[in-house]
Amino acid sequence: MVLNLLLGQTLRFEGDPFQKPWQEVTHHRQDGAVLIKDGYIKKVGGRGELLSNFPTARVTDYGGDLIVPGFIDAHVHYPQTAIIASWGKRLIDWLNFYTFPEEVRLSDPIYAEQVANCYLDLALAHGTTTMASFCTTAPTSVTAYFEAAAMRGMRVVGGKTCMDRNAPKELIDTPQRAYDESKELIDEWHGKGRAIYAITPRFSPTSTPDQLEALGALWAERPECLMQTHLSEQFEEIAWVQDLFPTAIDYLDTYERYGLLGPRSVYGHSIHLKPREINRLSEVGASVVHCPTSNTFIGSGLFDLMGLSKAKVSLGLASDIGGGSNFSMLRTMAATYEIAQLQGKVLHPAQLLWLASEGSAKALHLDGKVGHLGPKIEADICVLNLNSTNAIDQRVKNANDFWETLFPTIMMGDDRAVRQVWIAGRTVD
Ligand code: GUN
Ligand code: ZN
Repeated sequence: MVLNLLLGQTLRFEGDPFQKPWQEVTHHRQDGAVLIKDGYIKKVGGRGELLSNFPTARVTDYGGDLIVPGFIDAHVHYPQTAIIASWGKRLIDWLNFYTFPEEVRLSDPIYAEQVANCYLDLALAHGTTTMASFCTTAPTSVTAYFEAAAMRGMRVVGGKTCMDRNAPKELIDTPQRAYDESKELIDEWHGKGRAIYAITPRFSPTSTPDQLEALGALWAERPECLMQTHLSEQFEEIAWVQDLFPTAIDYLDTYERYGLLGPRSVYGHSIHLKPREINRLSEVGASVVHCPTSNTFIGSGLFDLMGLSKAKVSLGLASDIGGGSNFSMLRTMAATYEIAQLQGKVLHPAQLLWLASEGSAKALHLDGKVGHLGPKIEADICVLNLNSTNAIDQRVKNANDFWETLFPTIMMGDDRAVRQVWIAGRTVD
């Protein structure tokens, strides 16, 4: 059995920097070390101590690079990889004009496999080691995703996107087919290797009440699965939901009344929430996912991160590819910072990094498995070069402390900042 010892700067959290002062929960070491054994982190400590206690370990010295958990993208659509940065539309038109036609193309299993491989390679190159992805309505698109992730040894969440109205006929299923096909995929994939299944109604406008009810029934039978969908992204969408569900109290109620609200539910966007919805999400322990580059790109609005964290709603962070405009969780953190600034709030770099690792892990109920630099956690790691471009490097030369050294990489970094990625204790080459 090989022991791997990684040397570099380390940053780890022992608590939530949104609920406690960041200084209390953040542990940075200039001379850090991470010991990996059998795919798990065994120890995190000081370089001198681990070098002398484990003299047979294979050492990789990253110098001044920063060792952090691999990033976790809590809401993404891998089938939209090839339509990222599509111009000129708001949500509903963007779905009809760009997204649905591309998702139809993934009905071809060979194309789906190609896109899944392309997406996962891009994610890894950007330091993202885990993601929760929507697939398309075609079960073969789910197979393509989980197979491509298994080939890379990745811990991923995914599910068949269910739609039985308001979408092209090629993408439409029925309540029964959504139930049967999702169930079959759960049996095949949930808990197989590192795969986790999420029951996935796209959003209330593309599911009839009958389909939402069928998926609620399936979730009641398989409560170990996650449930992922969209909530309150754009005003036009919210008005449409009101028309389609005239007796619902609000958008969240269109899910709750069909059994699609629970502690393991994960709602992307959740921008324009009413106080009742926020209280209910908090009460139930459901998660919401901030998708900042998507929210600005499609013009959806400003997510109330601080308000939701004050209400103790579980928070994750995501690229929302291809509504989102960048594969990098660094860029996603930068957009999170910028949106908070527009709301008069200042986020600390520790909070940004926490959201992209521990926060997303908690939102997906993967804490204790990934997203944390600590013993017994799966060894998915991202090593960041904090001087990756001339622009960053010249700013770092002026830095007064560690946070000033890290922040330029958060604001200006991309895949060039990713020195190395480890998946389950092995390097990704
Ligand atoms: N709402 C329903 N489907 C989608 C999607 O694919 N992307 C985004 N951003 N919002 C959605
Ligand atoms: Zn989405």
